Amino acid sequence: MSENSKVYWDEIYWEDKINNNRTDFIKDNWMDKYIDEIHNVKRKKAIDLGCGIGQDTKWLLDNGFDVISCDISDIALQKLKEFIPNSKTMQMDVKEKLPFRDNSVGLVNANLSIHYFDMENTIKIFNEIYRILQLDGIFIGRMNSDKNEGYIKDTTKEIEKNFYYDYGRYFRLFNKEQFDILTKQWHVIALNENVTIRSNRKKALWEFMLKK
Ligand SMILES: C[S@@+](CC[C@H](N)C(=O)[O-])C[C@H]1O[C@@H](n2cnc3c(N)ncnc32)[C@H](O)[C@@H]1O
Repeated sequence: MSENSKVYWDEIYWEDKINNNRTDFIKDNWMDKYIDEIHNVKRKKAIDLGCGIGQDTKWLLDNGFDVISCDISDIALQKLKEFIPNSKTMQMDVKEKLPFRDNSVGLVNANLSIHYFDMENTIKIFNEIYRILQLDGIFIGRMNSDKNEGYIKDTTKEIEKNFYYDYGRYFRLFNKEQFDILTKQWHVIALNENVTIRSNRKKALWEFMLKK
């Protein structure tokens, strides 16, 4: 198995619940800078893929979208429901065929949730998102950059190019070449490589907005 299992993610959220029991979201309004494009989306139906506890779901709801929040972890979705009681949640594995009709969605968000897979599955995920989006629909997200320092250690195994395993978890670091392979059929509206702070740690990432 070359993936982080549901049990892996449930444990992460379970420990977070016990140790931090956050009562509010981390304020990270990274989508603000894309607000004009996002407001232009015709169909206000959004999917938050790998939503975690829902900070981006909240942002999308506040900006007029009907949101389905999807995650592999039931514990994350339970926590999301505590923050946003009326939210629509769906437990699912993003590697499977997405349970939405062709051309039926206005916006898909995947914030730091699709850098855990081998290239075959990553391509499959991009294709599935393409399938469910309406024409002119937007796919927005962020994923790890290969400029991240401290991720590759002596113990880290490279399973395939830019896809690694260490300390019980799989992760991918993207470069521009891989991004170009994934986005051949898309219009690239924005692509920025920058640094943010997550869990008190610097994180180099690619931020992207694609249009079908
Ligand atoms: C780093 S967290 C990001 C969460 C959230 N998007 C945010 O920005 O706070 C990665 C999320 O992806 C979810 N995830 C990982 N693998 C998944 C899979 N195969 N299918 C669906 N969700 C998955 C995890 O449960 C986790 O909530």
